Amino acid sequence: MKTRFLIAALALLAGIPALTIGVTSGVVAADKHVVMADATGTVGGIKVPSTNHPITADVPAEATHREITDDQKRVRNYADQPPLIPHAIRDYQIDLNINKCLTCHDRRNTAGSQAPMLSVTHFQDRDGQTLGTVAARRYFCTQCHVPQTDAQPIVPNSFQDFDSVLGHAQGGQK
Ligand code: HEC
Ligand code: HEC
Repeated sequence: MKTRFLIAALALLAGIPALTIGVTSGVVAADKHVVMADATGTVGGIKVPSTNHPITADVPAEATHREITDDQKRVRNYADQPPLIPHAIRDYQIDLNINKCLTCHDRRNTAGSQAPMLSVTHFQDRDGQTLGTVAARRYFCTQCHVPQTDAQPIVPNSFQDFDSVLGHAQGGQK
């Protein structure tokens, strides 16, 4: 009986260094994957808005960008693009009980609000049936429609619309 305990205890003791080595090397390996930006806030030459900072560094928060709320329609990049929202939508509730957007954009309310009415696609269910009210799949407006801010894109965008691709772009239309 005594020998069995002794063997078990020895086996446990022998295992401890192996465990500690395993744990420490794990930490070292994980550390290697932490991407640190250099002093100019870039990683591999690309500016990164929020990178890892030493926990003790007092890094000032980036300024938040201003929402564009000039009420001007933005050109759509393709016919099927959900138009961008040109007005503020802060605190507009969209849930089971109320949809703030519909209080202006629904068919019944556009005379009072002078907002553009939802197009007919918003009343069609997935079988193509046109319903009397907004279809459930178009209820959560901000799934597709988004406002813009004055933030500059981090990565340049090389998108070209149909006209530019065909070489018909005229009159500064993009
Ligand atoms: C108080 C009324 C009102 C509410 C509420 C409202 N809108 Fe609008 N919306 C307008 C008006 C008016 C316009 C026309 C442009 C302008 O005056 O800003 C407009 C324009 C738009 C456009 C641009 C359409 C186009 O053809 O370019 C979109 C998209 C839009 N709204 C989506 C929304 C969404 C999504 C919500 C809810 C998060 C919402 N709106 C809530 C009044 C409203
Ligand atoms: C699944 C994506 C999707 C959702 C959800 C959605 N829309 Fe749209 N919306 C579009 C697309 C795509 C267009 C442009 C093509 C079209 O009219 O169908 C559009 C067009 C519009 C237009 C312009 C209509 C016109 O004739 O100029 C308005 C206004 C609008 N949506 C408001 C809303 C509001 C308000 C909601 C929420 C009740 C909403 N949309 C939900 C995708 C969506």
